[in-house]
Amino acid sequence: MGILEVKDVNKRFGGLKALSDVNLSVKENTVHAIIGPNGAGKSTLLNCLVGKLIPDTGSVMFDGQSVLGRKPYQINQMGISRVFQTPEIFGDLTVMENVMIPLLAKRDGAFRLHAFESVEDETDLRHEAETMLEEVKMLDKRNMHTASMSRGDKRRLEMAMCLIQKPKLLLLDEPTAGMARADTNNTIDLLKEIREKRSITMCIIEHDMHVVFSLADRITVLAQGTPLVEDEPQKIKGHPKVKEAYLGEAA
Ligand SMILES: Nc1ncnc2c1ncn2[C@@H]1O[C@H](COP(=O)(O)OP(=O)(O)OP(=O)(O)O)[C@@H](O)[C@H]1O
Ligand SMILES: [Mg+2]
Repeated sequence: MGILEVKDVNKRFGGLKALSDVNLSVKENTVHAIIGPNGAGKSTLLNCLVGKLIPDTGSVMFDGQSVLGRKPYQINQMGISRVFQTPEIFGDLTVMENVMIPLLAKRDGAFRLHAFESVEDETDLRHEAETMLEEVKMLDKRNMHTASMSRGDKRRLEMAMCLIQKPKLLLLDEPTAGMARADTNNTIDLLKEIREKRSITMCIIEHDMHVVFSLADRITVLAQGTPLVEDEPQKIKGHPKVKEAYLGEAA
């Protein structure tokens, strides 16, 4: 049994079948990559895992509990965090303020921001935020406003905002999209370090095969909403189903 078990998930948008009988099992403490061409249904699948979309049929179990019917913040509290395809950070706040938001928001059941409870409390939370920024190598940028930051730094900050919640499962939707090669390589190194330091499972959607083959233990190839093949990276390389996914039936 995996920490994440997706069974027979279907999702339609009107006449379009975005997900068709999707089954996925992700083992604890592994990196599972989901690849496939544009429009394959990768982001739709992730949206179904975090409560942003509800599948028409099927089940999604995380750590032995169903995520279906739960609100995104409740799923977040179960231990799932997600880095979005487009970074979701607050441009008018500093790096430090952004990374503290999840700490100030997690105090009660709902996703509401709280004031610090005391001076000691503020000191503790600042220390936790600084430790996190150090881990993602952004401590020197803690007072920067995020609007002017590079895409690579914005993604790194978003990762910090997820990791500070100590998730059991981190979902990454194209974490290196639009990045220069140097930033991509830094992101690969950072994800490897995070993996070594923490007990964490990752599900990563990526178009960049260098990233996929550097990080993944297992790969699922999705095309037109259907998983075509799932295997270890060495067996996915050159697999005829991968060609089929990217080039269509004619391949
Ligand atoms: N909210 C929506 N309403 C209608 N159609 C949608 C919606 N979200 C996605 N789709 C469609 O569902 C299909 C799958 O989209 P999805 O975004 O999951 O693909 P993807 O694999 O993430 O693609 P990409 O690699 O371009 O990000 C596409 O045809 C898309 O146009
Ligand atoms: Mg997508």
